Amino acid sequence: MELTHIEHIGIAVKSIEEQLPYYEGVLGLKCYNIETVEDQKVKTAFFKIGQTKIELLEPTSEESTIAKFIEKRGEGIHHIAFATENLNETLQEIEAKGVRLIDKQPRAGAEGLNIAFLHPKSTGSVLTELCEHP
Ligand code: CO
Repeated sequence: MELTHIEHIGIAVKSIEEQLPYYEGVLGLKCYNIETVEDQKVKTAFFKIGQTKIELLEPTSEESTIAKFIEKRGEGIHHIAFATENLNETLQEIEAKGVRLIDKQPRAGAEGLNIAFLHPKSTGSVLTELCEHP
């Protein structure tokens, strides 16, 4: 198992539109994609820096885990996502090391990636995502 790079950092925001002046105007990053992931009830906006992305996450419903996160902890960094070349194998290896998984099987994430989350109880409270380009 080898993690290759930080694929993205997920940031919970109340409004993507309100944050665009900062990411585009101040930091000079370009938003190249806005996409809604229905089953996660979230709208996502992507910026690229090197081979890493910043992913803004805006809840589309109060039921969204992002809405609950913002309610509890406010806006800010929500998760870190590592890239791996073989997600199934990586998940098995990590689980064998005693880490609790949120997703035992990869599922579909934004931008056509296969993703899975590790449980923050096992990761020092950092919600951790693994991604694989199919
Ligand atoms: Co993510």
